[in-house]
Amino acid sequence: QTKNISPAGSRMISSDIFGLFFEDINYAADGGLYAELVQNRSFEYSPTDNKQWQALSFWEYITPGFSYGSLQIETNTPVHPNNPHYAVLNSEHVGTVPQQNNGQPLPSSITTGRPGVGIKNPGFGNIITKKGERFHVAFFAKQLSVQPVDLFVSLQDPKGNILAEQKLTIDKKEWNKYTATLSVTAGHDSTQVVLLATSKGKIALDVISVFPEHTFKNRPNGLRADLAQLLADMKPSFIRFPGGCLVHGDGLGNMYRWKTTIGPIEQRTEQKNIWGYHQTVGLGYYEYFQFCEDIGAKPLPVLPAAVSCQNSGGTWRIGGTGQRAIPLEEMQEYIQEVLDLIEWANGPVTSTWGAKRAAAGHPAPFNLQYVGIGNEDKITPEFEQRFTMINNAVKAKYPNIILVGTSGPFHSGEDFEKGWAVANQLKVDVIDEHYYVQPEWLISNQYRYDKYNRNASKVYLGEYASWGNKLYNAIAEGLYMTGLERNGDVVSMASYAPLLAKDQFTQWKTDMIFFSNSTYYLTPNYYVQKLFSTNAGDHYVDKVIVKNNADSLQAGSCVYDSKTGDIILKLVNAGKQARQFQLNLAAFKKTASVATVTQLSGDADAENSFRSANAVAPVTSTINVSKKFNYESPAMSLTVIRIKTK
Ligand code: AHR
Repeated sequence: QTKNISPAGSRMISSDIFGLFFEDINYAADGGLYAELVQNRSFEYSPTDNKQWQALSFWEYITPGFSYGSLQIETNTPVHPNNPHYAVLNSEHVGTVPQQNNGQPLPSSITTGRPGVGIKNPGFGNIITKKGERFHVAFFAKQLSVQPVDLFVSLQDPKGNILAEQKLTIDKKEWNKYTATLSVTAGHDSTQVVLLATSKGKIALDVISVFPEHTFKNRPNGLRADLAQLLADMKPSFIRFPGGCLVHGDGLGNMYRWKTTIGPIEQRTEQKNIWGYHQTVGLGYYEYFQFCEDIGAKPLPVLPAAVSCQNSGGTWRIGGTGQRAIPLEEMQEYIQEVLDLIEWANGPVTSTWGAKRAAAGHPAPFNLQYVGIGNEDKITPEFEQRFTMINNAVKAKYPNIILVGTSGPFHSGEDFEKGWAVANQLKVDVIDEHYYVQPEWLISNQYRYDKYNRNASKVYLGEYASWGNKLYNAIAEGLYMTGLERNGDVVSMASYAPLLAKDQFTQWKTDMIFFSNSTYYLTPNYYVQKLFSTNAGDHYVDKVIVKNNADSLQAGSCVYDSKTGDIILKLVNAGKQARQFQLNLAAFKKTASVATVTQLSGDADAENSFRSANAVAPVTSTINVSKKFNYESPAMSLTVIRIKTK
């Protein structure tokens, strides 16, 4: 209890309640939050990712002028065994004069501009550059011919006009990292990244990377500043990553293994993304943890429960056995992988894994408190056996780690019951529930957690959304969230899903933030989430809100934030008429007479889009309040009223 609230009126609730769930779905990571501009930078794309793709996808071989040579993919002596493919560029002739072959000029892809033999990449959709911007280029190269090779690294428009360039000489016979900084003299919305050999010779190329100079907090290998800022603005208490179904992959072959996602990017293991594309894991565990720290969110990594996604059974394992679960004889090794993550995040620099974190640039611990095991797993015996082994090992070695298990893919039914039975038997700290439903379901199930056992595992509502991005969807979610706050003693965390969706690259239609390479728009759902996460409290205060309509379309919650001393009222009206709330602040000793009001309201069908990004947005004002006051909430609205007590 705090001295500002009467003891009878309040109870403590989770102070971690509203966070984010980030999954690499809809190109949320590569081509999205991860600021890398080159697509297929390591020549690791393959038909396994997407039937149409191969190692040279998104690269075009070019021979401007009347030049010729060859381009091929090799795997004999890679930069690192985890990154097996690389390109070999053989510049046989560079010239502006047509070469004759039996009296005919040899073909040339581009006849203008600097002659040479090279490759170009259009990025993820397009690369947008503006005059004055700077870009950091880095790549690995090796001289394969007797003589060194001159290589121009440039940004060009589609016609081959140079927007920025730098000349390098590839003169090392072992793999070497080359870097350049390009300053754009004229920008273009379809900029291409070009590497052009302008002298005769043969070179190997790999991990060709271009980042904007400014990433979020200017971290190297960092995040797109505008998108990262949107997430930071939400002040999430935690971030769950890297998925979702992505975590388990569609078989053991592309299960997300955290150890292959840290360290230098050229040493990470790229793999198929279960959502039908490719993951470079350039945004890997180190970057996820760093981002959490940068925005003050607790990291919630989710590791596979040693089974494939929903136990569907991958049909391919490298080696091809199609196994659905890690064999029992390999489980100790896998459990060690889970334990090593905790040491990597929290261990001293003198520990084996803490030393790797320090070597990557972060000697201080990341202060990991939560670890998720499993995502929407079918509660089969093979899951239960493996989950039990992992849970018990983690709790034995790290009793203070809060372990988050799973209740399976649905909000009810046989698996759900079985998931909870396992949780109860093992006394799992927190259970992750998921549901994507109609808005009416949220309205009619708003009392779901009032009925939960207060002495069992806590709940993490790890993924939820109503199907749609109209205002009505968002308001229904807000109404449901008042129930989460009311039950904040049981529901310790909640996160909407999915978070990010790239225009024209989406696999899941209802998302929180839609973005392109140049811009984004925020959904009403984003605003509702943000209004809750930036207005969370640590005490729930009963009996403050009285509704005049006792119907299910009206709901409210009152929390108190002991850090700021603010009372926060959330009033939701999911109906078509205005509704009255009666507010009684008697539980609080001292209350200010002016309150801040932030309101999201409008037409039920209103939504935002790239064309009309601000059709729905919250509006802030002030009102006079007293110990008892009435508030009329407009149709289809969420109103947040913040009142100071200090
Ligand atoms: O959020 C999209 C997907 O929905 C997640 O990957 C999965 O956990 C759920 O089925």
